Amino acid sequence: MARMTTIGLIGAGHIGSQIARLAVKNGYDVVISNSRGPETLSALAAELGPKVRAATALEAAGAGDIVVVTIPLKNHRSVPAEPLAGKIVIDTNNYYPARDGHIAELDNESTTTSELLQAHLPTSKVVKAFNHIYAAELTTHGQPPGSPNRRALVIAGDDPSAKTTVSRLLDQFGFDSVDAGPLKEGWRIQRDTPGYGPRRTAEQLKKDLAAAKRYRDQ
Ligand SMILES: NC(=O)c1ccc[n+]([C@@H]2O[C@H](COP(=O)([O-])OP(=O)(O)OC[C@H]3O[C@@H](n4cnc5c(N)ncnc54)[C@H](OP(=O)(O)O)[C@@H]3O)[C@@H](O)[C@H]2O)c1
Repeated sequence: MARMTTIGLIGAGHIGSQIARLAVKNGYDVVISNSRGPETLSALAAELGPKVRAATALEAAGAGDIVVVTIPLKNHRSVPAEPLAGKIVIDTNNYYPARDGHIAELDNESTTTSELLQAHLPTSKVVKAFNHIYAAELTTHGQPPGSPNRRALVIAGDDPSAKTTVSRLLDQFGFDSVDAGPLKEGWRIQRDTPGYGPRRTAEQLKKDLAAAKRYRDQ
């Protein structure tokens, strides 16, 4: 597998800016983007230094070997599909009806948030990750591999090799990972499940995933 050297970010808010910080710290080139345009990201780009470039979402999607979509879920259909064809796309998004409006397939639990993004990006390899950790903790809770009680984060996805790549990225960023299975199992770490939010080791997180209940059963 070719070495992944560039991470593209679609969304550079709480989570996107933190993932950019982790990526720079770990030697990646980073292209950040938002909805308003690169000129609105000059302060963040300056803070992050020469490995970071602010661009349009289209450019970030094209430049990234791995691309992170970290925007309000309601906007997921605006993510440019063509430059993401065949690529690993990390999805951090969660469903908050107060922010996103009601989405019928999520309200009736016939799909999950990451499956919606996968449906919009049919040839990309979507991996759910970073959806259940507070943004600030991304740069404060990471620890080197093998640290006792290291924090773990859930991944889910339909492409095993994409999940392996994302798991390695998480390890570089300071976190163990727990594989929840295919995207359709991503509900086990959605809002209001036991693993959503608190600091958990891999063993604890596996129990949280097993104990998760659908909204209709809560
Ligand atoms: N905050 C957390 O602790 C946290 C934790 C885990 C997961 N999440 C989830 O991760 C996602 C991002 O959360 P956040 O807290 O980082 O949100 P945020 O701070 O509101 O940032 C959202 C970012 O997305 C950009 N954006 C919005 N629409 C876009 C579009 N159509 N194309 C490109 N960029 C777009 C925004 O740019 P503009 O400002 O230019 O519009 C902004 O940079 C959400 O789905 C959230 O539920 C959040």
